[in-house]
Parts: sequence; structure tokens; C-alpha cells
Amino acid sequence: MFANPEFKVNPYPAYRRLRENAPIHWTDSFGGAWLLPRYADVVKAMRDPRLSARRSYLLVDRLPREDRKELAQLNRIVGNWISFLDPPEHSRLRKPLETVFTPAALKTMRPCIEKIADSLLDKMQEKGEMEFMHDFAYPFPSLVLANVLGIPTKDLDRFIAWSDDFVSFQAPKPTLEVATRAQNSLIAITEYFKALLAERHQEQHNIFCLLKDFEDEEGELPLEAILAQFTMLIIVGQETTRYFLGNAVLALLQHPQQWEILKRDPSLAPNAVQELLRYESSVQSSIRLITEEFVLHGRTLKPGQFVISLIGSANRDPAKFTNPEILDITRSQPPHIAFGYGAHFCLGAALAHMESEIALNCLLNRMPNLKLASDTPDWNLEISLRGLNRLPVAC
Ligand code: HEM
Repeated sequence: MFANPEFKVNPYPAYRRLRENAPIHWTDSFGGAWLLPRYADVVKAMRDPRLSARRSYLLVDRLPREDRKELAQLNRIVGNWISFLDPPEHSRLRKPLETVFTPAALKTMRPCIEKIADSLLDKMQEKGEMEFMHDFAYPFPSLVLANVLGIPTKDLDRFIAWSDDFVSFQAPKPTLEVATRAQNSLIAITEYFKALLAERHQEQHNIFCLLKDFEDEEGELPLEAILAQFTMLIIVGQETTRYFLGNAVLALLQHPQQWEILKRDPSLAPNAVQELLRYESSVQSSIRLITEEFVLHGRTLKPGQFVISLIGSANRDPAKFTNPEILDITRSQPPHIAFGYGAHFCLGAALAHMESEIALNCLLNRMPNLKLASDTPDWNLEISLRGLNRLPVAC
């Protein structure tokens, strides 16, 4: 199923079949894993302590055994990311980061994010056309994240290149050369933030002193673990939002009546973002390692096997959402799980939401007659991170 090009272009019919046939399925893909397609099971799995987030080694295990020893530093850095940790280590490192990403803390950033969106559109408006991914979706989250993390604009290109190296490594079947480049970039990010951390430590109220000065009953946080979180934020904070913005604009332009509704009533933008996250999110699945044997829907799940929660399928489960295949930005809805659920709920959810809302409002104001310039969406054909390579539009 996953290798099928049709699935990669449009996974939703396959998700429907999975949901309708059974609540759990075995797949030999991904080295063997259990698939959960229904909303109720996905939500339970994301809170199940028998399912561990410690799966960072899977990245390097995709390479031949003899190459893996070259990638020890990559393994070590990624192994410290909160997304790959369980409590209590996970909670300890996540806590200080949360304070930076609350809606209240981000509120002061709004005018600056609006300015970034506007300045990107300024460049395009004259031309009357744009390739939305390249011209907006790609640079926008990078510029925003650089602002949130306090990265000087002069370093932005480096910061995007480092993230791109890791994204290339995440694609299926990476070579040792690609993996080594990703490792070198992670080391470069670490060194970069080590210097920035030393430089900015005296300043008040920034992410650096927040992390460096954080202390709990166990004392200060280890510097190595703090630096690892920066490598993680730089990667996950760009690609997820970039792809979601493309998916959101494509979905709206494929449903012009929804675009018109939003144009008439821009106050619907926050609701529209929620509905678009439900309908066509960038993060389609979440994987966990089984740590103890248990039975689920009559199937025995064994330690060492994996569970893949199909978020994209759960968000279109008719047991949870009325007419789930319909995009309706006025929907008053039960909560989608595009940002996950439980302890690993997306740390950047409020930021991603604010960025998306600002981007939509800006597009509606500045380019109310936006139209698709191609009938065939150019999907990236990735399974867990769904997004477009290109999205040409006329504005
Ligand atoms: C539309 C954009 C985004 C989507 C759809 C998204 C989705 C998700 C999902 C589904 C998870 C949970 C994964 C799991 O449980 O396996 C997650 C976790 C995470 N996200 Fe996002 N995300 C987005 C944007 C962002 C941004 C902008 C940032 C940072 C600036 C961010 C940082 C994180 C982090 C650090 C985690 C791990 C949290 C933890 O393990 O405690 N995300 N995201």
C-alpha cells in the first residue's frame, strides 16, 4: 500500500478501506509495524505508556550495518531530542521549552510575523504569479523561526541549509554521503548555538537564558541536551509548517467556494486553519516502539515491534467527524489530532497556528483573486510528511 504511487498522491481512499476493514493491521513496510487507522485508537496509543517514543536509532538503522558506526554523533544528538524521549527525561527537557511557545509568549511576535508575510508577498505581487512553495511557504516559517530563536538574519541561509541537509537524510534510502552531510549539519548547528548561548546568556527573557538558567530538583539541564533541542527545533519547525501552508492553500484553491467564504469573513481564519489541519495536514503519521506485550483488538503486539498511528486517517474518521471528506471552514468541530495528542503534543502548535492564520489573512488581503496555475498537484510522495514540491499560482 505505502509503495503504491497512487497512495502517495492521495492516501485517503486507502485510509478509508483500512478504517472500514479492521481497527488494526499488520504491514511488512517500515521493517514490520501495526497500523492504527481509527481516531479512538490513535488517541489511546498516543497516551499508552507501553508505547515508547525512543526510536531515534531507526534513522541510522536504515543504512547498512558497516556504515552506522560513522554516524555515532548523529545518533547521540538525535537521541537527546524530546520527540524521541519518554518521561521523566522528556518532561524535564520539554518544560522550559514550553514557556517559549505558549500563545501568550508568542503574542508579542504577531506584528513581526505579519511584517515577514507582507514583505514576502510584496516581492510577488508585481509579477502577477508565484510558485507558492518556493516564494512563500519555504522562506516564511524559516524567517519566523529565526526570529523566535533569536538567530541573526545574516545567518539565515546557513540555518536553512543545515535543515535541508537533515530533510534530505530523512527521505527513503539515504546514502552514507547524505547521512554524513546531515551529521555534519547537526554538529554545525550545535556549535553555532553553543556560541550564541555563551554570547546571549546575559540578555534577559530569551530562549537561551531560559534554558541555561533552568533548574529543577535535579539541578541544571545538561548543556548537550539543551543544544540538541535547538537542532530539533530548526528541523521540525520549518518543514512541517512549510508543507502545511502549501497543503492549506492548495485545498482552499481546489474549493473556491471555501476561499470565497473566507474572503467575505476573514474572522473565520482561525477556524479555517483548524479545519485545514484536519483535512490535509503535513504530518500524516506517528510511530512508537512497543515495550511490553499486550493484546489490542484481538492481535498480540510484541516488544520490539512498532505501532504507526495514522493521524491523516484518524482526522477523517466518520466515527468522530460528520462528513469528514468534506472541507468546511465553518465547521464547529471536535478537536483534530494534526498536532498529536498527550505528552508529545506538538510543542510548536500555537506558533504553527498563528503563522498559518497570518499567512492566510495576508494572502486574502493582498491576493484575493489567487488561482491555481496548474491542475496537477506536484506531491512530494513522502509517506509521513505530506506536502507539495511546487504550487504555481496566479495572483
Ligand atoms: C503545521 C505545522 C505542524 C504540524 C502539523 C506539526 C505536527 C506535530 C505532531 C503530529 C507532533 C507529534 C508527533 C508524535 O507524537 O509522534 C509534533 C510534535 C512536535 N512538534 Fe510539531 N507540528 C507543526 C509545527 C511545529 C513547529 C512550528 C514547531 C517548532 C517551532 C514544532 C515542534 C514540535 C516538537 C518539538 C515536537 C515534539 C514534542 C514532544 O515530543 O514533546 N512543530 N508536531
